[in-house]
Amino acid sequence: MTGRTSLTIVLAAGEGTRMRSSTPKVLHQVAGQSLLAHVLKAAPEGAGSALAVVIGPDHADVAAEASKARPQAAIFIQRERLGTAHAVLAARDAIARGADDLLVVFGDTPLISAATLARLRAPLKSGAALAVLGFRAADPTGYGRLLVEEGRLLAIREHDDANAAERAIDLCNAGVMAFDGRKALEIIENIGHANVKGEYYLTDAVGIVRDLGLQAVVIETGEDEVRGINTKAQLAEAEQAMQARLRQAALQAGVTLVAPDTVYLAADTSFGRDVTIEPFVVIGPGVSIADGAVIHAFSHIVQAAIGRNASVGPYARLRPGTSLGEGARIGNFVETKAATLEAGVKVNHLSYIGDAHVGANSNIGAGTITCNYDGFAKHKTTIGTGAFIGTNSSLVAPVKIGDGAYVGSGSVITKDVPADALAVERSPQNTREGGARRYREMKTRSKTTKD
Ligand code: UD1
Ligand code: CA
Repeated sequence: MTGRTSLTIVLAAGEGTRMRSSTPKVLHQVAGQSLLAHVLKAAPEGAGSALAVVIGPDHADVAAEASKARPQAAIFIQRERLGTAHAVLAARDAIARGADDLLVVFGDTPLISAATLARLRAPLKSGAALAVLGFRAADPTGYGRLLVEEGRLLAIREHDDANAAERAIDLCNAGVMAFDGRKALEIIENIGHANVKGEYYLTDAVGIVRDLGLQAVVIETGEDEVRGINTKAQLAEAEQAMQARLRQAALQAGVTLVAPDTVYLAADTSFGRDVTIEPFVVIGPGVSIADGAVIHAFSHIVQAAIGRNASVGPYARLRPGTSLGEGARIGNFVETKAATLEAGVKVNHLSYIGDAHVGANSNIGAGTITCNYDGFAKHKTTIGTGAFIGTNSSLVAPVKIGDGAYVGSGSVITKDVPADALAVERSPQNTREGGARRYREMKTRSKTTKD
C-alpha cells in the first residue's frame, strides 16, 4: 500500500446496551486489552496514516484509552447516537482532508488484523469506490446481509429490515469498509434513515455507490477475525478466538506449552527462548518472560518481568511490579507485589513479599511476610544481598536487613538489621543461634576459598 495515504475512523460511540454493563462496550477486555486498543493496534500506522476515533459525549474514559493506545489519534464526539453513518460524519473534518483511502472500522470488532485491512484497501487502487469486508457467519442473526448478484455487491440489508429469503443468506457484513477517500463524503452524506430503526446506516453506502455508477466489491475473511461483540456471550467467544491465536503464536515462537488450551495469555505477553509454561497458568497484561524461565502449573502472573532461567510456582501469584532476576525461584503459595528480587533469590514456600527489594542470592524462608501495611500507608522492606531470613519471620516495614544478615526463624523484625548481623527477635525458645553461627562460618569459609 506504499504511496497511498489513509484515514482510519474507528467507531466507538455506541452505548453497548446489550452488554448490560456500566462500562462502555469498547473498554471491555479481550486478552487483557480493551476492544478499542485491539482495533487501534490493527489500524495503519506511520507516515501518511491518519487515525480518528468517534466516541460518545459522556465517554472521557474511552478518549483516554484511545490516546493511550495511539497518542496521535484525533478524537471526535458523536453527540447523538443516530447510527453508524451518522457516527462516521462526526469525523467529517478529518474526512474532508481527503486521504486516498478511508477505512471505517468498528470499535467492537477486536480480532481484526492489519493484514486484512491492507487487503481491503487493495481494490481501491484499481478503481473501486467501496470495498466491504464480508464473512460467512455460522449464525448470521443480527448481522447485515450482503446481497450479491453475479459477483456484484448490490446492497447490505440489516437483519431487522431483511425478509425471510434475505435472512437465509449467510454472507454477512463485518462492519469494516474501505472507501475511496475523495468520494467518501459525497457517498456518506447521501445516506438517509428510512429503515426499521430510523438510523443512518453506513451499510446504505453500497446502494448509493451503485446509484452513482461506481463500483462496490466484497472482500471475504474468516468469521473469527470479525466477530462483532454486542453481548457478554460474544465477548467470551472473542476471548476464546484470541486465546487460540495467542497460544498458536507462542508455540510458533518456540514456547513450550504443555497443555495450550489451559494457558491464558495476554495480547502483550513477551517470551524469550526456551520458555516452558506448565498447565493452568494465567498471564495478565504486562508480562515478559525471559529465556529459559519455567512457569509451573497454577500460577497467576500480572505486570511482571521474569528473568532468565527463573522458576515460578507451582501455585505462585506474581502481582504488578514484580521483577525477578536471573535464576530467581518463587515457589508454591508465594505472593509478590511491587517487589524486585535480584538474581538467585529464593522464596520457595508460603510467603508474601510486597513493596520490597531483595538483593541477589538472599534466601527467604517459608512463611516470611513483609508486613508492608500499617493500616494507613504502605512501607518498604529492603533486604541486602546474601541475607538469610528464617522461616515464619515477620519483617515489619519500613525496615532494612543488611547484606549477609541472618534473621532467626520466628522473628518479628521491627528495627533495621545491620549487614552480617544476627537477629533473633521475640522468640525465647529460638534455637537457631547455632544455625546462624554455622551459616556465617560457612559463608566466611566460602569467601576465603573464593578469594
Ligand atoms: C453493524 C452493521 C452490520 C454488521 C455488524 C457487524 C450497520 C448499520 N450495521 O451492526 O451490518 O453486520 O455491525 O458487527 O452498520 N456506533 C457509533 N454510533 C452510533 C451507532 C454505532 O459509534 O450511532 C458504533 C458502535 O460503537 C459500534 C459500531 O458503531 O462500535 C457498530 O454499531 P453496532 O450498534 O454494534 O452495529 P451492529 O448492530 O452490530
Ligand atoms: Ca456490533
